[in-house]
Amino acid sequence: MNKRFHIQTMGCQMNEYDSDFLAQSLIKNGFLPEKDVHRADIILINTCAVRAKPEQKACSFLGRMADLKEKNPELIVGMIGCLAQMKGKELMRRFPLLDFVMGPRELGHILESVEGIIRERQRLVQTALDKVPPSPVKCTGYFQNRTSGFISIMEGCNNFCSYCIVPYVRGREFFRAPEDILEEARYLISEGIREITLLGQNVNSYVWKETQNKWNFSSLLHELAALDDLLRLRFTTSHPKDLSDDLLACFANIEKLAGHIHLPFQAGSNRILKSMRRGYTREQYLAIIEKIKTCDEDIAITSDVMVGFPGETEEDFQFTLDLIEHVEFDALFSFKYSDREGTPAAEMSEKISENVKIARLQRLQDIQNGITLKKNQRLVGRQMTVLVEGASKKGEQLTGRTSSNKVVNFDGDVTLAGRLVEVTVKASYLNSLKGEIIG
Ligand code: 5AD
Ligand code: SF4
Repeated sequence: MNKRFHIQTMGCQMNEYDSDFLAQSLIKNGFLPEKDVHRADIILINTCAVRAKPEQKACSFLGRMADLKEKNPELIVGMIGCLAQMKGKELMRRFPLLDFVMGPRELGHILESVEGIIRERQRLVQTALDKVPPSPVKCTGYFQNRTSGFISIMEGCNNFCSYCIVPYVRGREFFRAPEDILEEARYLISEGIREITLLGQNVNSYVWKETQNKWNFSSLLHELAALDDLLRLRFTTSHPKDLSDDLLACFANIEKLAGHIHLPFQAGSNRILKSMRRGYTREQYLAIIEKIKTCDEDIAITSDVMVGFPGETEEDFQFTLDLIEHVEFDALFSFKYSDREGTPAAEMSEKISENVKIARLQRLQDIQNGITLKKNQRLVGRQMTVLVEGASKKGEQLTGRTSSNKVVNFDGDVTLAGRLVEVTVKASYLNSLKGEIIG
């Protein structure tokens, strides 16, 4: 009988992309997807290691699987992704129910591993980092009912910011060949995808020198935008130090390129930025923001920021708040710093207490919420182009996103999914807009 698999995905969009890869690999080989974890024969937990919270979430989910394994000793439980890479062996010792751990660069082996375990019940640790990421599998029908899809254009990171585990768990920068990326885009479009988000820890460092035609990130965007039936192109994440004028020009020259840039700043104080090894100063970051705004004031800017980095004083924190008020981000992802074992920041003294971190995060989020609301209110009355994604969460309306990545809910027929419609913004909230279709 065909075995059923359930994938629990935690963490970032790259993990969602990896989970789609795993699912397609398994479906193509006769396994069946199963939404209910209790009915699965194989449970894969795709984990995140970037902060302490997602690590705890993954471990507590895994712990809850012990009962299922007791009832069904045939059950296969695998931990995949960044936490598997970071703590694979330790997790195998701590959780006897785990059959295997597999790091992000080993995903191409999923089929052999699962089939090997079914046959021989061996326990596996697969955490090599020198492997080339696998080519995507094509599984017709997989993306049905989706309008939006991801393509990973690069893996890993060479920046080694002092707090970050990513370079250790995803390895050094590896760029995918442009022809592979284009082929994957054609596949997604043939499956009905109309918006593609290019993924990578640092997409704007993309280069390809191995063919006669040299590629950079801008040339990749131009080629992708030329594909028929693709309506929108997005990318994330960019590093401020690699944001070129060439890329900024793309916003003006490529009509399909969405007007949104995610540009993590992490901290507003030069002292902290230096200790984080971010490679830019506050002034340089602000200059880039000015450039983006001059290029097009409608480009939405979002960012990531951390509070409570080792040694962060109230004065340093004020610099962060000041930067937030100055830039007026459209949205901000804010986190409490947490030690990641093996990173230089974890070894730093002057750790900030949890209470101070909580209080700073709250103050920061209150300020940002005010800014987000104010910016969304300015959109009331404006006409915006929305790519319709389908029925909204409550199911009564349609939902879609503007070029600037704002969620808009409005009345309309579900057959509009996958199409661009013009909408007038009628009301605004913290996380969404209410619209009305024109015509
Ligand atoms: N602690 C807290 N936040 C972190 N991030 C990365 N590493 C850490 C850490 N050790 C945040 C950064 C990054 C986002 C993905 O997660 O803001 O941009
Ligand atoms: Fe981590 Fe810095 Fe690389 Fe981003 S650029 S993944 S924060 S090391």
